[in-house]
Amino acid sequence: MFVARTIPELRRRLREWRRAGGRLALVPTMGNLHAGHMALVARARELAQRVVVTIFVNPTQFGPGEDYSSYPRTPERDAVMLEQAGTDLLFLPEAEEIYPSGLRDGAAVEVPVVSEGLCGEARPGHFRGVATVVTKLFNCVQPDVSLFGEKDYQQLLVIRKMVRDLCMPLEIVAVPTVREPDGLALSSRNAYLTPEERERAPLLYRTLVEGRDRILAGERNFGELAARAREKLLGAGFEPHYWEVRAAGDLGVPQQGERCLVILGAASLGGARLIDNILFRI
Ligand code: PAJ
Repeated sequence: MFVARTIPELRRRLREWRRAGGRLALVPTMGNLHAGHMALVARARELAQRVVVTIFVNPTQFGPGEDYSSYPRTPERDAVMLEQAGTDLLFLPEAEEIYPSGLRDGAAVEVPVVSEGLCGEARPGHFRGVATVVTKLFNCVQPDVSLFGEKDYQQLLVIRKMVRDLCMPLEIVAVPTVREPDGLALSSRNAYLTPEERERAPLLYRTLVEGRDRILAGERNFGELAARAREKLLGAGFEPHYWEVRAAGDLGVPQQGERCLVILGAASLGGARLIDNILFRI
C-alpha cells in the first residue's frame, strides 16, 4: 500500500494508475477504522481496480465545543487494517494541505435544503464542512466511484445532491450500516461510552425498529410515534436530539402515499452523540 501525505505525491501515483486504465474508487474517512469502514473498502474493491482511502479528521465539520481535538486518531493501526484489506493507496493529509487559505477564508460548498434540519440543525455548519472537504477529496483523487455508509444517512443524501447539482463526474454508492450483534451501529464515537452506557446504547436502534414495525402494522400518526420514542429514550437516560419519520428520497415530511421511508434518530448518552436510522418500504 502506498501512503501519500501531500497532494503532489498523491497525484503522481494516481497519474500512473490512470495511464494503466481501470476504475478508481475512493473511500473518505476520518480514521479510527472499524468494521463499518472496512465494509466500504470491501465494496470498493468489488467495484474498482484501484482503491484509495483517505483519513482526515476534518476540522470544518466540527462545531465549537465539539470533539475535534479528542476525536480518536489511530493512523498506524488503521494503516495495517487497510493494507490487509487490499487498499492501494492511503492519503493522510495535514489540514494545511486541504485548507491552503485557512479554515475560515477558503471557498466552501453549500448544499441547501437537505443539509437543513436533523443533524444540520443540531450541528450548524456541519454539512457545509462535510460537503467542502468531500469536494476537495474528489478533486484531489478524481475517482470514478466513491462509497458512503447509510449509517450517516443525511450525509449520504447531502453528497448525492451535491454530486448531482454540481455535475460532478462520479458515481456515489451507499453501503448498509454495520452493527454490533445487539444492534448498536458501529461508530468511532462508541468509544466514548462507559461499559454501563454501552449496555444501554442499543436502545436507540430498538426504538427505530419498533417505530418501523408499528408503521408496517398500519400506524400513521408519526408525531405520536416520535413522542413515544423520545420519552422512552429520556426515561433510559438519553438526551434525544431528534427522532423523525421522513421520506427516504429527500428527507422531506412524508406526503400521503409516500412508500420509501426512513426513521432517523440522534441522542446523547453520557459523552457520546449517537446517530442511527432505519430505511424501509411500506
Ligand atoms: P467517518 O465517520 O469516519 O465515516 C466514514 C464513512 O464510513 C462514512 O461514509 C460513514 O457513513 C461510514 N460508516 C461509519 N460507520 C459505519 C457503519 N457502522 N456502517 C457502515 N458505514 C459506516 O463520515 C465521515 O467520516 C466524514 O464525515 C467524511 C465523509 C469522511 C468527511 O469528513
